[in-house]
Amino acid sequence: MSKDPVTRRQFLSYTLTGVGGFMAAGILMPMLRFAVDPALKVEASGQFHATQQEASKLTNDPVRVNFTYEEADGWYKSNVTQTAWVYKDDKGEIVALSPTCKHLGCTVGWNDNKSFPNQFYCPCHGGRYQKNGKNIPGTPPPKPLDAYPTKIKDGFVYLGKPIPNPYVK
Ligand code: FES
Repeated sequence: MSKDPVTRRQFLSYTLTGVGGFMAAGILMPMLRFAVDPALKVEASGQFHATQQEASKLTNDPVRVNFTYEEADGWYKSNVTQTAWVYKDDKGEIVALSPTCKHLGCTVGWNDNKSFPNQFYCPCHGGRYQKNGKNIPGTPPPKPLDAYPTKIKDGFVYLGKPIPNPYVK
């Protein structure tokens, strides 16, 4: 009878090492994933957020549209509410402008100042913009209002992440 190539001591050592390693991996992997995964996640490009605005009810008069969505910052999630000024242009295309003034970030309103009808007006320093978001020369804002990419789904307007204004040439 040949002698057993693996001693009882070796067998016990191998078994304990294997089981111990397996258990350690089971504990460490979820911890590692929790710590690293959010940082590795790439924000989905072209992500659109739903609004309550029905596309068919839009006219060529800008309306304020508020919309809320969940945003993840690493592993912290929060609800973000944003606003857009939305209307249909002469071709019937939906235009959605950011209300954030390009001077110092106050919120612009549409037709808010009787002296400047049919313009976006910023109450902080009198910044003004045309309907397509173009900043009016001689007022503080240095650039046009940003715009939201738009799409329609199930009859409702969806808005993407603000981009530099494509309507001002
Ligand atoms: S922040 Fe709008 S004009 Fe200054």
